[in-house]
Amino acid sequence: MKVQTTSKPSVVCRRVDLNMTDALIGLENACFECDRISRRNLRRLLCSPSALCIGAFLGKELTGSMVVLFRSNSSVARIYSLAVSPHARGLGIGKRMIAKAEQEARARKCRCLRLEVRLDNPAAIRLYERCGLTHTKVLPEYYEDGTNALVFWKELD
Ligand SMILES: CC(C)(COP(=O)(O)OP(=O)(O)OC[C@H]1O[C@@H](n2cnc3c(N)ncnc32)[C@H](O)[C@@H]1OP(=O)(O)O)[C@@H](O)C(=O)NCCC(=O)NCCS
Repeated sequence: MKVQTTSKPSVVCRRVDLNMTDALIGLENACFECDRISRRNLRRLLCSPSALCIGAFLGKELTGSMVVLFRSNSSVARIYSLAVSPHARGLGIGKRMIAKAEQEARARKCRCLRLEVRLDNPAAIRLYERCGLTHTKVLPEYYEDGTNALVFWKELD
């Protein structure tokens, strides 16, 4: 009898550079309706020493991206952007990238992880709650279409 397994596909999260610009822009366009990172801003982030750009790969395919910002005078690591390709959602890739952000933040001696999320984004809010983040405050009309943001926060021990 053939045994069916339901294990999740293995994802590799690693730093990406300017060579991935086109693929990252494609992912950004597939994942966000507004407040997208422009190509110019993305290229700036990819070259910035205070930004860590991570790609999540299923085989050779880029299926997720994340940008984490670190400031030299701050112990707070900020997840600036997180996206998973629509066809690869629900596989644990978002969770893996948050774990990677925590790992990188700890390695840099950061004490907290912080991010903002749209109030009308239940999938992302649930993901952050599942990863142990809690929301601390609302930023009114934070996004370009006037939607409020929730600030999520996690202490790193
Ligand atoms: C939010 C997003 C990153 C989640 O990525 P993902 O890889 O599908 O998430 P995961 O598979 O790791 O799911 C982790 C947890 O999140 C929650 N979750 C994910 N998608 C969900 C959905 N559509 N509805 C409800 N909960 C959801 C689940 O609780 C899940 O945990 P569980 O399976 O143990 O119950 C993805 O949907 C996405 O890219 N959305 C568009 C871009 C975006 O909104 N980015 C965040 C901006 S702040």
